[in-house]
Amino acid sequence: MSKISDIFKSHLKDFKPYKGGKSRDEINSNGKKLYKLSSNENILGPSPLALQAIQNEIHQVSQYPDRTDTKLRNALSEFYKETLSPKQFFTANSGVDVLDLICRAFLDHNSEVIISSPTFKPYILFAKKMGAKVIDIPLNPEEFSYDANAVLAAINENTRLVFLTNPNNPTGNIIPKQIVNKIINEVPDHVVVVHDEVYFQFAEEQTDYSQVVDQVNEGKAVIAVNSFSKAYGLAGMRVGYAYTTEEIAQYVSQFRRPFMLNKLGLAGAIAALKDDAFIDKTKALIRKEKTYLYQALDDLQIKYWKTAANFILIKPEMDDKIFEAKMLEEGIMVRPVANFGADECIRVTIGDREANTAYINALKKVMNE
Ligand SMILES: Cc1ncc(COP(=O)(O)O)c(C=O)c1O
Repeated sequence: MSKISDIFKSHLKDFKPYKGGKSRDEINSNGKKLYKLSSNENILGPSPLALQAIQNEIHQVSQYPDRTDTKLRNALSEFYKETLSPKQFFTANSGVDVLDLICRAFLDHNSEVIISSPTFKPYILFAKKMGAKVIDIPLNPEEFSYDANAVLAAINENTRLVFLTNPNNPTGNIIPKQIVNKIINEVPDHVVVVHDEVYFQFAEEQTDYSQVVDQVNEGKAVIAVNSFSKAYGLAGMRVGYAYTTEEIAQYVSQFRRPFMLNKLGLAGAIAALKDDAFIDKTKALIRKEKTYLYQALDDLQIKYWKTAANFILIKPEMDDKIFEAKMLEEGIMVRPVANFGADECIRVTIGDREANTAYINALKKVMNE
């Protein structure tokens, strides 16, 4: 043994961790108003009920939070109208933390996972971190449809996880429930289906979209991944949860850490679950602004994909990094998503009318320069 790096895990030698989108503080906007449309946050801010609960709790932060997440799991069970019991949930510090727990619980050097790019990058990184092999069965490159037959054909005895991102990030489309069911019903018994539904609130009005509560309650090996970062406007609090069978929830929970969720996150999340008015307001805004943006993008003849989430993927026919920089000069933060597998595409969060107008005006300027 000659140097300390000799004891580092060799499969992590060239590992590049997930960076996430830039924060506002990293950007110098030269005094110009900055619209952050790069991280799919809620432009309306946090749920007011959550904010109140966080404020009520803030003076207690010298004390440890509850030893367990029981109160949040009870609140989740109530939120799902007791179709799921508190024992069917596990919680973590965000959606990505839920994904990391799942990868730690099921993967090792002998495992394989299946993803379908373009999609959320952390699946790949978390699986690789565990030494697992990542098999990509890409979405159709034109309309990003999911190839269930190819995914099922790629499963072998080493496969442990199949990731379904529904709605998908960065493409914004859904996997119709018949296809989700096909995967869930046809995977062999040694495979867990991970249904990442962190944008479900924006898709639930579509008739061919569904969460996977019924399949979980039929005892299928499915884990649904959720987050408080998107519709609830609590990205900064870092709270996520999953629902699954009681058996799987109990197993994955063994990988949680003591006092995992902090006091403010717990209080905010529990209160947010009761904030139906805020969710309705958020959904109405996205519905309305989506129509406005589709029209504006049509008028500008910019290629885009219809969305079932709170962002729209566009292809501006310009180098993505140059596009990002030019939009930033106009005060608009957008997200190139080549690293998610969508070359030359840009993901833009749907804002309110002020932000969307600023975005479209910037787009007009940048495209006509
Ligand atoms: C598809 C998908 N899953 C999970 C997450 C994780 O969200 P968070 O870690 O903020 O809860 C995100 C966030 O962008 C996402 O887009």
